[in-house]
Amino acid sequence: MGFDANRPDLLIGVIGAGAMGRGIAQVAAAGGIRVRLTDAKPGAAQEALKFIDGMLKRAAEKGGMTAEQATAATERIQIVDGPVDLKPCHGVIEAVVENPDIKQKLFAELEAIVADDCIIASNTSSLSVTLLANKLKHPGRFAGFHFFNPVPLMRLVEVIDGVLTEPWVGDALMALGKRMTREPVRVKDAPGFLVNQVGRGYSLEASHLVSEGIASFVEVDRVMRDVGGFRMGPFELMDLTALDVTQPASELLYMQFFHEARYRPSLVMRSRLDAGILGRKTKRGFYDYSSGEQAVPPEAPAPGAKPQSVWVSRAEPAGHAALVQLLDKLGAPVESTAKPSAGALILVTPFGEDTTTCALEQGLDPKRTVAVDTLFPMVKRRTIMTCPITEPAYRDAAHGLLASDGVPVVATKDSPGFIAQRIIAMIVNIGCSVAQNQTATPADIDKAVTLGLNYPHGPLAFGDRLGADRILKVLMNMQRVYADQRYRPTLWLSRRARLGVSLLTPDT
Ligand SMILES: NC(=O)c1ccc[n+]([C@@H]2O[C@H](COP(=O)([O-])OP(=O)(O)OC[C@H]3O[C@@H](n4cnc5c(N)ncnc54)[C@H](O)[C@@H]3O)[C@@H](O)[C@H]2O)c1
Repeated sequence: MGFDANRPDLLIGVIGAGAMGRGIAQVAAAGGIRVRLTDAKPGAAQEALKFIDGMLKRAAEKGGMTAEQATAATERIQIVDGPVDLKPCHGVIEAVVENPDIKQKLFAELEAIVADDCIIASNTSSLSVTLLANKLKHPGRFAGFHFFNPVPLMRLVEVIDGVLTEPWVGDALMALGKRMTREPVRVKDAPGFLVNQVGRGYSLEASHLVSEGIASFVEVDRVMRDVGGFRMGPFELMDLTALDVTQPASELLYMQFFHEARYRPSLVMRSRLDAGILGRKTKRGFYDYSSGEQAVPPEAPAPGAKPQSVWVSRAEPAGHAALVQLLDKLGAPVESTAKPSAGALILVTPFGEDTTTCALEQGLDPKRTVAVDTLFPMVKRRTIMTCPITEPAYRDAAHGLLASDGVPVVATKDSPGFIAQRIIAMIVNIGCSVAQNQTATPADIDKAVTLGLNYPHGPLAFGDRLGADRILKVLMNMQRVYADQRYRPTLWLSRRARLGVSLLTPDT
């Protein structure tokens, strides 16, 4: 069909001049595209244009463009009264409220106005692209074009093909995204598309952990920053996005996936939403913001206790080796006997099992058993956990010993997979599910997640770095201990782990 994203006179319509529409109009204009911007609320588009002008001027001051380029970009945006003025547009991007009825009505109205080969695209973040198209006479011309907030700073855009989207439409939006200086990624319509699906792994697993009383949200945030390498912990992130955005999106995704256990939302988060504890915008979320700053509870000092002697389980040879190396560095009295001596602190290094299971299956005294997470380098922070009857003196001795070189330790209640193992295994597994369902290519999955979510690695590369075989073990053990399908490994993951190849390997 006739859409050429690079034609000099390209004209794009943007409907909705809110947070997203104004950002989309700005990057389109900055990419040399003429834009017609409209909003149903009187004065909203004018206000948006003023805002865009300010943003472009600031970009010029910062050296991102010249003052002339900024002025020229603003001048490319024309405010118009409504859809009727979008008749000459080659493509229209909708960014109005997230309501399927309003959007569908708008598309039907628009279709009667624009040319037959005009692309109609929606910036929806959670609605089915296929469903949004189903009131159109020509659903083939419709696709998702999902930008991220704030648009000028977030370079990723997902180009989403609905079931009836014709391939030329997605191709054209890929080219248009590039002209708008974005990094477009091609995605097949699915609940949460690509990025919002993988992102559920982080917030949901963290929420379940806290709901189950395993650790506090501050401890989870500390571990995910220091051990997982994430820029923000899941709870400070939820405070930023606000629970009235995150929780309804999680609940919708779970329904759209026909109650797939991997996406099961957390009851505690629903209760907090019902209570109006939303995050920064209500000055109270997981953290307190009444002073204007995030109030972070101080970390308790490590206990001074040390064990008289330590015995390390050999059930996980890699975990045993890593922990013994660290204990030697700390000058700990490590026993080399096959069984622990009476009174020795017993350390186990599970991948996906809880402390209770390790102690019982290995015939160890649970009162003296403490588990240490060795899946990650134990350099910035260490995680230990106890079973329900571990004596506090043994927990404190393990804590004191592992913190004796100044590295902070988080001590949690018993959990299959500690904190970081289970959250990251979940992210990897969901990334693999996205690959298995052919929602996007393996390389695009990692690219989109690093660009869209700022994770330290894409889910597939993350799995490779930690060892796909170990992630598989974490998940299988979690599934066994929890007796919950939520943790079942995807075939994408288990096949590649067993074959010993990268999780980024596509099928031949
Ligand atoms: N905010 C985000 O983080 C984000 C990220 C990605 C995608 N999205 C999606 O982008 C869309 C817009 O979100 P937003 O955050 O910009 O919302 P917003 O509330 O800031 O702006 C929506 C604008 O649409 C206007 N509007 C409503 N109905 C209209 C109609 N029928 N015709 C014309 N204008 C209409 C409103 O007056 C408002 O100015 C939604 O579909 C949302 O899911 C939002």
